[in-house]
Amino acid sequence: MDIVALMGSPRKHGNTDQLLNEMIKGAKENGHNVVKHYIGDLDVHPCRACGVCMMGKDCVFKDDGFEVTHQIAESEGLIISTPIYFCQMTGNLKVLLDRMYGITHNPLIPLSGKVALLFTHLGPEGYYDSYINLTKVQPFQMNMHYEIVDVLDVGNLGDVNFQPNKLIEAYEIGKKF
Ligand SMILES: Cc1cc2nc3c(=O)[nH]c(=O)nc-3n(C[C@H](O)[C@H](O)[C@H](O)COP(=O)(O)O)c2cc1C
Repeated sequence: MDIVALMGSPRKHGNTDQLLNEMIKGAKENGHNVVKHYIGDLDVHPCRACGVCMMGKDCVFKDDGFEVTHQIAESEGLIISTPIYFCQMTGNLKVLLDRMYGITHNPLIPLSGKVALLFTHLGPEGYYDSYINLTKVQPFQMNMHYEIVDVLDVGNLGDVNFQPNKLIEAYEIGKKF
């Protein structure tokens, strides 16, 4: 199975990145091919709601957002990782996910697959459950028809290296693909 992994933090080698790497390690050890993208390195124009993609045509922007969203559509698995920024995923990640709009409305590009979600934050574990549960449903279940593999919520950060159990949990989730 081909999996696309999105690293939604602008901070390389930070908490989200390390946890994501463990998840990827687990998935790879299960024989999957994983392509990782650092969202912050991509050139992604925000959706401008022009409606062209709703007429069965490609998105007007032929940037990295075009490439990566189509790569997601062709893959069978997706890993979304993000720190919580003011109670939500990072802006960069949201801009990319918005660019999935045309694909989710195009019957010629049927979406299905598995998704694992990873959230990191300073708050206590469970503090962002309402946001996380909503995100799970939409866009991933409702719009993309994805099956949720698992959701990892890592709070009380600091430095993830002080929570080695969470690194193990991330690895185990990767193995569920
Ligand atoms: C702009 C910004 C907003 C943040 N907002 C929140 C927040 O609302 N709640 C929270 O618990 N942590 C918040 N944080 C902290 C990060 O979620 C936390 O440090 C996370 O572990 C960072 O992940 P990283 O190490 O992968 O960058 C914020 C950090 C930044 C830079």
